Amino acid sequence: MLIKNLTLTNFRNYESCSFSPEPGINLIVGENAQGKTNLLEALFFCCFGRSHRTSREKELIAYEAPFSLIRLESERTGTDHELIVRLSREEGRKIKSDGLPLARIGELMGLLNCVLFAPEHLSIVKDGPAERRRFLDMELSQTYPAYFFLLQQYQRALRQRNMLLKSLREQPELRATLPVWNQQLASLGWKLMRYREVFCARLSSLSSQNHADISGGREQLTVQYHPDCPAQDESSLLHLIEEGQQEDLRRLTSTHGPHRDEMALNLDGREIRAFGSQGQQRTAALAIKLSELDLIRSETGEWPILMLDDVMSELDERRQKYLLERILPVQTLVTTTTTGTDWPRARRFEVFSGQIQSMD
Ligand SMILES: Nc1ncnc2c1ncn2[C@@H]1O[C@H](COP(=O)(O)OP(=O)(O)OP(=O)(O)O)[C@@H](O)[C@H]1O
Ligand SMILES: [Mg+2]
Repeated sequence: MLIKNLTLTNFRNYESCSFSPEPGINLIVGENAQGKTNLLEALFFCCFGRSHRTSREKELIAYEAPFSLIRLESERTGTDHELIVRLSREEGRKIKSDGLPLARIGELMGLLNCVLFAPEHLSIVKDGPAERRRFLDMELSQTYPAYFFLLQQYQRALRQRNMLLKSLREQPELRATLPVWNQQLASLGWKLMRYREVFCARLSSLSSQNHADISGGREQLTVQYHPDCPAQDESSLLHLIEEGQQEDLRRLTSTHGPHRDEMALNLDGREIRAFGSQGQQRTAALAIKLSELDLIRSETGEWPILMLDDVMSELDERRQKYLLERILPVQTLVTTTTTGTDWPRARRFEVFSGQIQSMD
């Protein structure tokens, strides 16, 4: 897919801007706090219906302005599309795709695909399981919109079950309804688990190949799905959830299920989070991010948009070179604070105080 134009009105520090990237590599150069990440954030919002930096949408509206507009022109399988996002302080969020209003955010999933790589993505490798679950959920949602709907239903059922557990002290008679929620968690959870298992297996083989290419094949990166409830089917998942019920009743929360799953990242069988050096962690994160490009391509038939925010300076020459080769067929937006980056094929843009201009 291809981004043809992104027009922003009162979005963060952009009062009014129009950005038309090239199909290849687009280098976005600017000093700190000029609006480089804001530009990527707008595009990210068009893909996922939320910011990668904040859950408070109003922060995206320019100070003092009543609303903000993002208009994105893209091309997918040879057809032009238009997406309009309106964020208003009074009326919240409204999204239109090709002129039609979207009733639910889930309808946005899969319309546009993007992969963002920013320094904070090291958290996938460094932080706890919640970060990796978030990664899994986001990638699966943008590739399979059905997954997003399942996830929403599961989360709703989980919230209901947790609320029920908390209210049992005062209303013990409600305990009779617990099996309904156990069944819901098991049936929705089992479907989520199937998606996650297949995804992790594919991610593992792609990431391990990427990693070998980047690092010269000295170590092996593996991605393994570690479900919290290692069930064989829906009924054995139900059984495991029922087995945990005593503990749930004690702790007043759902202690077992896919909401506790883990995706283990190992280097030669050892957990990277615990034993990897900074450089090893960075290389693993890059290998995983690049695999997302391949996964999305093979599922949707098209390359997603790649956004690299401030990561080039952290990569050594060998990794930069590898990255450059890999992203050749992919429309890429790269932000950097230095004009010195030697990228002969890149189209260059300068961002200064909420304005973007072509430098060529
Ligand atoms: N809602 C808003 N309205 C107006 N300006 C905003 C808003 N939110 C953030 N800003 C401004 O946007 C600027 C930050 O932009 P951004 O994060 O895109 O910078 P950057 O170019 O990526 O910088 P760096 O190189 O430091 O990452 C800051 O000056 C900030 O004050
Ligand atoms: Mg930035």
